[in-house]
Amino acid sequence: MTAAPEPAGDPGRIDVVCAAAGTALAVPPGTSILAAVRRAGLEVPAACPDASCGMCETRVLEGRPDHRDGVLTAEERASGETMMICVSRATTARLVLDL
Ligand code: FES
Repeated sequence: MTAAPEPAGDPGRIDVVCAAAGTALAVPPGTSILAAVRRAGLEVPAACPDASCGMCETRVLEGRPDHRDGVLTAEERASGETMMICVSRATTARLVLDL
């Protein structure tokens, strides 16, 4: 999957905490959160190459997602309660996810 360009306000590296797994990892620019958490050994369902299936939807416990998917509604994006970790990033340097 090709990384989306970094918009203004994207901190680049994201520190991601997987709360349920008790794992913390750094996601560098150009690497998706999905790829990073899978590399850390977590099983996360994902089924599409273009951020359209919604299978990787993940609850956000702390931090602010930068939504880049084609699934969430405007209201869902504004709430920041969930995110598609295959493409979306963060406007905060740290995200705590329900993984
Ligand atoms: S894997 Fe399909 S939306 Fe993330």
